[in-house]
Amino acid sequence: HPALSVSRAALLPPPGGPGDAAGQALPVESRPFTSYGSALHIALPQAPRAGQLLTLLIDYEAGEGPGVCWLSPEQTAGKQKPYMYTQGQAVLNRSFFPCFDTPSVKFTYSATVKVPEGFTAVMSATSWEKQKDNTFVFKMSQPISSYLIALVVGDIVSADVGPRSRVWAEPCLIEAAKKEYDGVIEEFLVVGEKLFGPYVWGRYDILFMPPSFPFGGMENPCLTFVTPCLLAGDRSLVDVIIHEISHSWFGNLVTNATWGEFWLNEGFTMYAQRRISTEVYGLPYTCLEAATGRALLRQHMDTTGEDHPLNKLRVVIEPGLWGVNPDDTYNETPYEKGYCFVSYLAHLVGNQSKFDAFLQAYVNRFKFQSITADDTLGFFLEYFPELKEKGVDSIPGFEFDRWLNTPGWPPYLPDLSPGQQLMRPADELAELWAADSLNMEAIEAVDITGWRTYQLIYFLDQVLQKSPLPEGNVKRLSKMYPKISKAQNAELRLRWCQIVLKNNLEAEYSKVKDFLHSQGKQKYTLPLYRAMWGGSEATRALAMETFSATAPQLHVNVQNYVKKILGLESAE
Ligand code: BES
Ligand code: ZN
Repeated sequence: HPALSVSRAALLPPPGGPGDAAGQALPVESRPFTSYGSALHIALPQAPRAGQLLTLLIDYEAGEGPGVCWLSPEQTAGKQKPYMYTQGQAVLNRSFFPCFDTPSVKFTYSATVKVPEGFTAVMSATSWEKQKDNTFVFKMSQPISSYLIALVVGDIVSADVGPRSRVWAEPCLIEAAKKEYDGVIEEFLVVGEKLFGPYVWGRYDILFMPPSFPFGGMENPCLTFVTPCLLAGDRSLVDVIIHEISHSWFGNLVTNATWGEFWLNEGFTMYAQRRISTEVYGLPYTCLEAATGRALLRQHMDTTGEDHPLNKLRVVIEPGLWGVNPDDTYNETPYEKGYCFVSYLAHLVGNQSKFDAFLQAYVNRFKFQSITADDTLGFFLEYFPELKEKGVDSIPGFEFDRWLNTPGWPPYLPDLSPGQQLMRPADELAELWAADSLNMEAIEAVDITGWRTYQLIYFLDQVLQKSPLPEGNVKRLSKMYPKISKAQNAELRLRWCQIVLKNNLEAEYSKVKDFLHSQGKQKYTLPLYRAMWGGSEATRALAMETFSATAPQLHVNVQNYVKKILGLESAE
């Protein structure tokens, strides 16, 4: 990566053998490769023999690239000390250290990190140790892909929340972090192990990041990074944690070999997440959560058009200087269409415990490897020879090839009707609010005070879908349900802001601004800028004003995507 400067490469003598410990210096050259990184060529003195182990020493400096984020004290929760974090997925770690930055390669790593007094370093590693002089030594003893190496340095402390889990956060957030997840993490791990096999990573810790962290969660092994938006006070957003835990098997253990088949990571993880959720919270609740996921896929396909080339599970990522950057292909399709495809495979099997057993065998077969969809589907047909014989891979309309290579709405949708008991009241209430003349008696008869957060989310999705509502309705809705319009929960705030914008509720535009000032998650930020830019003169002005005030605190990728939406020139 251009942000990485390599000063020297050397071939080290074989361990224990004679030779200069500094090694033999080798010629180094950077050659064109992609628009988001170049190829580092190191010339060896002679061609190695097949199977020969070589140790190369590369001296380099890093820090200014997109993989390494430096925050000022004002950008942290405590506002006292600076903070740095790395985000590798998908192809950003090449600006953090020289590596084979592809998920097709796996390796162990160790790192020695020296930090200033008053700071703590943590990494995605199976063991760590603090030595003298503020030096931390980390070791990841299982082979992982480059995108899973992660480092945070900041004023952070930890608290135990389970036998193999603790939360990490800035001191001012640690109480809230502990309260949110104390005693609940272990059950997810235990259920995950029961379903998918041993948890191989030792610890499972959670690090609450500063508000500008661009994702809900990032499955860095042993140490998931999460947005502080999860601190809802009522565990209502715990599905993100279950999702990241599920990556311990799907993604971190069995890994997509290329970013063009990202659905192997995310689609299987969505399925695993909902299996764990079903075991812990039951089928109705899990179907409700899955229905909100389906709404996200609907919204995504509506904005991009169903036939958009990114709306297939296998995305073509051409190599070379003109290929797309894998980070620019991030969208709902690999998640929710991927979930539908895995659900379809389960439907073909027709028996949950048989399919669970398949998933466990699949993890066992491909653990510590990087694979393609052909490996996955080949193994599926091998595991169920009777299905192979029936030719389930080529049922007209549901061909595996069509699932992978044709854009569009999933040909099969899992049945979410077990969630009806939770969804129906929300559907009916949304219907009432969409009427031309409001039936206040019927509306007032519905008591939403006992509704779960996901029922409210589902209700707001329905209202959003029906928006703009007849003049005046949203204003009344806002008054009637302060629990929604004044919510602190980020998922509710996102949807309320979307409703405010779609209904031109100018009186509440400041809420959009406040929400965008309070956090920088990509999945919250981009839809709101899209809505503002697609709206009125006033919302466009709001977008510009909000972006110029918040840009410096956004992740550089998110900054660039917003610039694109607003028609501002992007850095690339
Ligand atoms: N691995 C992803 C986050 C990611 C994807 C980072 C692509 C960089 C590039 C993580 O597991 C994830 O999917 N997070 C979701 C959680 C949700 C689906 C429950 C998120 O951040 O919203
Ligand atoms: Zn994920």
